[in-house]
Parts: sequence; C-alpha cells; structure tokens
Amino acid sequence: ETRPRVLSGIQPTSDSFHLGNYLGAVRNWVAMQQTHDCYFCVVDLHAITAGHDPEALRRRTRVSAAQLLAVGIDPEESALFVQSHVPEHAQLAWVLSCITGFGEASRMTQFKDKSAKGGVDRSSVGLFTYPILQAADILLYQADAVPVGEDQRQHVELSRDLAQRFNSTFGETFTVPKAFIVRESAKVYDLQNPTAKMSKSASSPAGVIDLLDEPNRNAKKIRSAVTDTGREIVFDPENKPGVSNLLTIYSALTGRTIDELTTAYEGKGYGDLKKELGAVVADFLTPIQKATQEYLDDPAELDRVLAIGAEKARRVAAPTLAAAYDKVGF
Ligand code: ADP
Ligand code: NA
Repeated sequence: ETRPRVLSGIQPTSDSFHLGNYLGAVRNWVAMQQTHDCYFCVVDLHAITAGHDPEALRRRTRVSAAQLLAVGIDPEESALFVQSHVPEHAQLAWVLSCITGFGEASRMTQFKDKSAKGGVDRSSVGLFTYPILQAADILLYQADAVPVGEDQRQHVELSRDLAQRFNSTFGETFTVPKAFIVRESAKVYDLQNPTAKMSKSASSPAGVIDLLDEPNRNAKKIRSAVTDTGREIVFDPENKPGVSNLLTIYSALTGRTIDELTTAYEGKGYGDLKKELGAVVADFLTPIQKATQEYLDDPAELDRVLAIGAEKARRVAAPTLAAAYDKVGF
C-alpha cells in the first residue's frame, strides 16, 4: 500500500448523524477512499467521558456504523471498525499518558470548554485525558494525515508532540501525523440560530437536520428556518446568514454552485427556496435511510462487517503496540 494513510473517528453520541457531521466530516471520508489508505473508527471509548446510558451507547454505536456504510464507506476499501473492538487503543493510551505532561494536558482548550459548565472537580479524568486516547487512535495506525475540523487542530498537535517525544526517547516507532484541516465551505449552521454551527449538543432539535429524520420533518424544519426580512436570495453570510446557510446546504447536496443557485432563484422568494431545498434534502436522505435500515435489520451482517473491520485494524494496531511495548521495556 503506497497511498498515504489516514485515521479519522466519530463519536456515537446520538441516534442519527446530522447534516453538519455529514457535510463537514463524513462526506470527506467517503471521497478520501479514492486517494488514501483509510482507517475509520466509531470512537465509543471517547463517548463515555461525561456519563452515558449503556443501552443507548450500544444502539448508537451500531446506528453510527450503519450510517457510515449507508453514505458510502466501503468496508472492502477501508477499515471501518469500532474503537472498543481493538484493545490496543486503550493500551497505547496508557503508555502515552505516561509521557504527557500534566501541564501540557491542562492546556487543551476542549477540556477547558467542556469542563466549564460542571466544573473541573466534577469532570472525569477520562474527559481530561481524552486527547491522549485520541493520540493513541492516530499513532497506532502510523497515520500520515488526520482529517479534522479546526477545533481539533490542538489535539493533532499533541499527537505530533507525543510521537516525536516517544521516538526521541525510546527510538523510532511512530509516524508523525499531519493535521489536514477540512475546508470551511462545508460548515453548516443551526437553522434556528444561523450564526451558530449546527450541533447535536448545542442546537435545538428544530435547528438540526438529522440524516435519519423523516423527510417531512426535515422539510418542515427547513420551512421554519430563520431568515431575514429581505426578499432577495443572495449569498451574504454576514448580513443574511440564514439564507446563506440554506444556499450552502443546497449547493453541497446538489453540486450546483452558489452562483448558479442565486441566478436560478432570481425573482423568486424564500418560500420557493425552502420548499425546493426540502425536496433536495428528501431525495438525498431517502436512499441513505433505506440503506441504514437494511444494516439495522440484519444485525448478523453488521457484526460480520465490523468484525472484518476490527481484524483489518488490528493487523496494523497490534504490531505497532508490540513495537511500542518493546521499546519501553515490556
Ligand atoms: P456536534 O457538534 O453535533 O456534537 P461533533 O462535535 O461530534 O458534532 O462533530 C463530529 C464531526 O462533525 C466533526 O468532525 C465536526 O467537525 C463535524 N461537524 C459537526 N458539526 C458541524 C457543522 N455544523 N458543520 C460542519 N461540520 C460539522
Ligand atoms: Na460537539
């Protein structure tokens, strides 16, 4: 295999991915299969750092994997697996945690943000060491590149520092990965609050288009999307964030450029745009929902696919961990 290797993960924290997850992350994974040697992981270990329900986690892990398959992650082409099925992740994380400085870990802004609400004293140690587990995810596969959003850049930097530190302390073991920042044009905003990103955790349900939501429900959310009092359909994220967000989604799902769309909508109103975007979203989601349901209706097949993925992953992860263990004296 001479193509560059990438590792990327997504948390199983909800019963459906939303359009932001798809357009901002997963769609790029699908495309990268053409050019990279891909390892894609449903990161269930990362999903227990802030309290969780075991049955919900089990269901969400499966539904996440089913959706990834449904949108075009090809389990023959890529390794698609569940993080907890590959024990090397947790094992390497321990070793890496022993070469991470407490101060260094304390500088991670995601922990500061996520612990701000409940307070540091009530946050789990797992939330604190989350970026070290993420470093283990990346380094185990000797990944060259990690496709992430801007918010994850600091964690990839930590992975680079830990790889370099391990290599210089114990001898060459890990590839030093590069962050590959996914382009901003794919950013999708909350339909009800179009200056904030569409987010499972922060948006109201009416602001989020879920991949697995009924087409009618999504069409209704789009019809109720917040727009401004003007009437002209122009792309102006600063002054018309609502309309611009709808155009971004429309363009991303159809491949039509923003210019083509604004020309086509000259003289038409927001109502037309919203109605037609509802239909675009429905056309896009219907086959994804059908394929997801097929995997969920055949648990044995989903288990088989995920077992093959875990086996592929371990073919790289096990020798990497063995080399690291040997270097540290185990
Ligand atoms: P959420 O904010 O809904 O909890 P996550 O933080 O779990 O979503 O994001 C998972 C992936 O989806 C990340 O790679 C992130 O960059 C991407 N993503 C999430 N929301 C959006 C959005 N509104 N627009 C573009 N990409 C997004
Ligand atoms: Na989030």
